[in-house]
Amino acid sequence: MNDLTSLMRPKSVAVIGASNTPGKIGYAVVRNMISSGFKGSIYPINPKETEIAGLKAYPTVVDIGEPVDVAVMCVPAKASLSVAEDCGKAGVKHIIVITAGFKEVGKEGRELEQQLVDIAKKYGMRIVGPNVLGIIDTHAPFNATFAREMALKGNIAFISQSGALCIAILDWSLKNGLGFSQFVSMGNKADLNEADFIEVAGKDPETKVICLYLEDVVEGERFINAAREAIKRVPVIALKSGVSSSGAKAASSHTGALAGSDTAYKTAFKHAGVLRASTMTQLFELANAFTTQPIPKGKRVAVVTNAGGLGIVAIDAIELGGLEVARFSEDTIALLREKMPSMANIYNPIDVIGDAHYDRYEVALDAALSDPNVDSVAVLLSPTAVLEVDKVAEAIVEANKKHPDKPVVAAFTGGFTVEAGVEYLKKHGVPIFSFPEEAVSTLIGLTQFASLNESISDGQEWVFDDVNKQRVKEIFESVRKDGRDLLLSPEAAEVAECYKIPAAPSRLATSEAEAVKYAAEMGFPVVMKICSPDIMHKTDIGGVKVGLSSDDEVKEAFNSIMLNSKKAAPEAKIYGVEVQKMMPQGDEVIIGMIKDATFGPMVAFGSGGVLVNLLQDASFRLASGLTRREIEEMITETKAYTILKGFRGAEPDDIPAIVEAIGRVGQLCRDFSEISELDINPVFAYPDGLSALDIKIKLS
Ligand code: COA
Repeated sequence: MNDLTSLMRPKSVAVIGASNTPGKIGYAVVRNMISSGFKGSIYPINPKETEIAGLKAYPTVVDIGEPVDVAVMCVPAKASLSVAEDCGKAGVKHIIVITAGFKEVGKEGRELEQQLVDIAKKYGMRIVGPNVLGIIDTHAPFNATFAREMALKGNIAFISQSGALCIAILDWSLKNGLGFSQFVSMGNKADLNEADFIEVAGKDPETKVICLYLEDVVEGERFINAAREAIKRVPVIALKSGVSSSGAKAASSHTGALAGSDTAYKTAFKHAGVLRASTMTQLFELANAFTTQPIPKGKRVAVVTNAGGLGIVAIDAIELGGLEVARFSEDTIALLREKMPSMANIYNPIDVIGDAHYDRYEVALDAALSDPNVDSVAVLLSPTAVLEVDKVAEAIVEANKKHPDKPVVAAFTGGFTVEAGVEYLKKHGVPIFSFPEEAVSTLIGLTQFASLNESISDGQEWVFDDVNKQRVKEIFESVRKDGRDLLLSPEAAEVAECYKIPAAPSRLATSEAEAVKYAAEMGFPVVMKICSPDIMHKTDIGGVKVGLSSDDEVKEAFNSIMLNSKKAAPEAKIYGVEVQKMMPQGDEVIIGMIKDATFGPMVAFGSGGVLVNLLQDASFRLASGLTRREIEEMITETKAYTILKGFRGAEPDDIPAIVEAIGRVGQLCRDFSEISELDINPVFAYPDGLSALDIKIKLS
């Protein structure tokens, strides 16, 4: 078991700052520990008291003289360092620091927090917080918080960056009957963070789903690895608030401009297999569904309703949400035709119609759930005067039990009349909602998890062993020696060639003779451009000549480009003239990379060319662990894909070549962490192969 087991399931707990004064945090924590039914030893620590809540109190943690797994710190921040030292000396394994007044209050607090971490490191202790509500494990049982009540026993692990939110959710969950396995407040995350708690909950046998409330992620790679490991057993759902200011925003490249402020988290969550909830309601509705219902095997949904209108609303939600309306097998249709009245709709949605009694629901539900073409079922109800709502609820629970491999959700649209049925479904673990879209939204979440999980378990990082890493290293070294961070175009083209990314041939000519030689080698026609990092708008100053088809034209172009540039920018450092083979026009796409401070390099693909920023059509994936399947998937997410497939009768482009080029860009960025930005725009896509035209590589 994980070494944090003794944090979640301690044998002994010291409460430092325990108090006999009602209203104090140290008072509440001791009472919560006792009333939770904790079976280990509880040691209240208070220098002025001999007894607290009927337990022997000790002046310091060192005086206990017995091993202590967890110390809960409830003393003011100014006492925190000496208390931590005492904990270290007493051999405490973990400190839950409820105390506030650290990083969140500014510079001094930040320094204090660092000192606290240093002390913990010195003694090999782990810290939760500071600035936390505490931790609950309902199955231990263990409640080291100052919450009003203990959470209900259940199977949701809730891990939250906000302690106040923990308190609110806990209170709400008691009213709504939602149970938790673990309840963790992470606070400032000075030491332990989401990656650690995902690891812990992922291995906890009582946890069936992990719910995260995050404002940021501290260690990107560890978070991803922990989540990917956890989802082999349990789903991980996250509500991420706040807008990221890292990486993407600072970038100056086209790719950077394509990435929104949330792109990194969106990309990373997808890569990690973490399901994203967009609201708190959705977070807990999904959590509840994951603990009570199986994961659907596919996207095909059957709808059973007694109201046509509700059925149509559900069908719209199914289609808009990317699920499919199931097409029933012939057996199902024959059975429904036999058992349902002639006015009923026996195709999907099954409309048992307004005069239905509960028995029609029984038949329809069993038929839908037995159909091999159905992966999940949504049951809708309008409380007509003839319908026995409570019996429908019972029928749903029975059908759900009889077909444990397919999830069932329900929407009872009504008020007082449906209350008892709703309560019955809640009690028996069938996700129940007021409206059809909410029910379908939960099915969408369950199904999305299934496909996330599948895409993660499918495939290894795509690695190419035919690349020339050494030469790229030499190029980067020479760029640095030259005092630059931006590669010249011919250098960038050579880097691409080293990684077998098909770049348009490009050479740097420093003389008329060299220009002629290179043009002859690559073949006419060629394009020539001034090569200077100091000249931005090359065309405007006469620094670019296109369509050159003879030695004489090349000579003349070389001289006029040099002359124009020197005249327009006398101070500019000029390296020479780039001679580039003029490539036939293809469909224009962009392949790029930007770096995120938390999650590292992200590769991008989308519509390219001069309109790239206007089109804003791009899809991103993390370079780390990038699989072939992920690349294929990212291409299909863009509008560019429609063009590549052969728009309006055009011949399709070589999509496998693009897939491979993205894979190779991914590896280049993994191999060289010093690449801070990369843009290949445009890439000309052809029916046979591709050509990378304009390559920009910036080093950090
Ligand atoms: N060792 C043991 N006990 C100590 C101590 C020490 N070194 N120093 C003080 N104490 C005792 C005090 O005597 C007091 O006991 P008493 O009630 O018997 O007098 C108790 O510890 C608490 O100290 P006190 O000075 O009364 O502090 P407090 O209870 O007013 O506040 C905190 C302490 C931790 C609650 C407060 O500093 C704080 O951080 N509050 C915010 C907490 C928060 O919001 N956290 C985030 C939640 S999401």
